[in-house]
Amino acid sequence: MIDKVLQKLEQTEPQAIDRLCDWLRIASISADPAYKGQCQEAAQWAADRLDEAGLTARVLPTGTKDEPGHPCVLAKTPNADSGTGPHVLFYGHYDVQPPDPLELWESGPFEPIVKKADAKVKADHIVSRGASDDKGQVAMFLEALRAWKDESGEAAGGLRVTVLLEGEEESGSENLEKFLKDYESELRGCDFCLISDTGMISRTRPAITYGVRGLAYTQIRLHGPDKDVHSGFWGGRMPNPLNELSKVLAQMWDENRHVTIDGFYDSVIEATDEERAAWKALNIDIPTMLGNIGLSPEADIGEAGFTSIEREWARPTAEINGMWGGYTGAGAKTVIPAYATAKVSFRLVADQDPADIVKKFFKWLEGRTPPGCRWELEDMHGGHPSSVDPTSKWLAKAREAMEKSTGMEVALIKTGGSIPVAGMLKDSLGLDTVFMGFGLDDDRVHSPNEKFELPCFRMGARSHAVLIDLLRSGGA
Ligand code: BES
Ligand code: MN
Ligand code: MN
Repeated sequence: MIDKVLQKLEQTEPQAIDRLCDWLRIASISADPAYKGQCQEAAQWAADRLDEAGLTARVLPTGTKDEPGHPCVLAKTPNADSGTGPHVLFYGHYDVQPPDPLELWESGPFEPIVKKADAKVKADHIVSRGASDDKGQVAMFLEALRAWKDESGEAAGGLRVTVLLEGEEESGSENLEKFLKDYESELRGCDFCLISDTGMISRTRPAITYGVRGLAYTQIRLHGPDKDVHSGFWGGRMPNPLNELSKVLAQMWDENRHVTIDGFYDSVIEATDEERAAWKALNIDIPTMLGNIGLSPEADIGEAGFTSIEREWARPTAEINGMWGGYTGAGAKTVIPAYATAKVSFRLVADQDPADIVKKFFKWLEGRTPPGCRWELEDMHGGHPSSVDPTSKWLAKAREAMEKSTGMEVALIKTGGSIPVAGMLKDSLGLDTVFMGFGLDDDRVHSPNEKFELPCFRMGARSHAVLIDLLRSGGA
């Protein structure tokens, strides 16, 4: 049967790409309230595809009456809650990042086009916001479900499947925790969660990701005078909020690039020697990765004592994501601003807690308040780090499926990115998450001209189809 399913996927690939392009045309930008309607539409689009594959899908509201969120899609195969055998929860997100800066796109962010391989991108690829993160990757699973239904007549070939698609992943998953609580009874029976929202090492080195970092995101504002003032009268006589904010933030790292916030590393669980050796053996080509973002090999800098991969996968970091204030328009204006603002975020590793890190950061700031100034501090959102034991039987199944369908060896990696749902599922339901992703690190996710390569799409659809087969026939 699996051979027929794979054949079906191959034969129907052009239609599959057309379907994905229809979805990509819906600008489901979760961060911008102006796109609320498009988020609803993108959720409904996915629910319709799930219904076609024999599942029963619902588009469910999130948040509260006064502050509604973007809907979640919850879908189940007919036997999901009553059948026997493994029950997989597939999670993905239908929302996308804002497309700006628009002028850097070669074609419209929501006008997907299939481009031929060229000197820069070595395979045919779809260019669109969401192509890789995450609609393109969710579509691989939707297509695997469709092919299984077409060939076997049964949803997911009889495997017990629940699907959860979120619409706020890119904007902090603010309503997800409550949603998971409200629908706990529908999720409790799942054995593990499978997510396709990560990447491979390269085109020829597929990988399973066994851990993501957490995130704590803040906005901080330092207030000085109660109005903008003349820099000639006042410069040198009182605190300039921009000067002072940059001086404080510059103290966040010492000369070894360790974060200096008191207690920041208290609950960090160090990577084991075996893990570090295994990562080293992957021989990931750091100079090439730096080259892909326009940097030379000497730019491989960060916390002292750790390799580039260790810094990404196993160390927490502090980053200024944006900083502004005063006059930023054309020409010169001699002014000292009333306040200066920065967005500061932290990537976290086990067992750091986002709320605890924000508390420590704010306390550290308060201890450095420049004379006469005051802080306005906002904890925006966060997510827990999460990883699965690399010896988990579910991970082994996913790895076997990828190996069978790609004919390539599948590496075990972690990622520095964050996917908040994984920590929530572990917390609330004790569920482990396996990340089976097919992106490439030059997919330009969150950037202009985001793309997803068709061979990646193909590999992903096949891997999901084979994984469905392994789980339905062999159990675990
Ligand atoms: N899919 C990404 C995370 C990712 C990207 C993992 C690349 C591995 C490789 C996800 O959509 C994302 O962007 N997450 C945000 C989470 C945040 C908004 C809470 C992130 O990591 O910044
Ligand atoms: Mn994503
Ligand atoms: Mn993303």
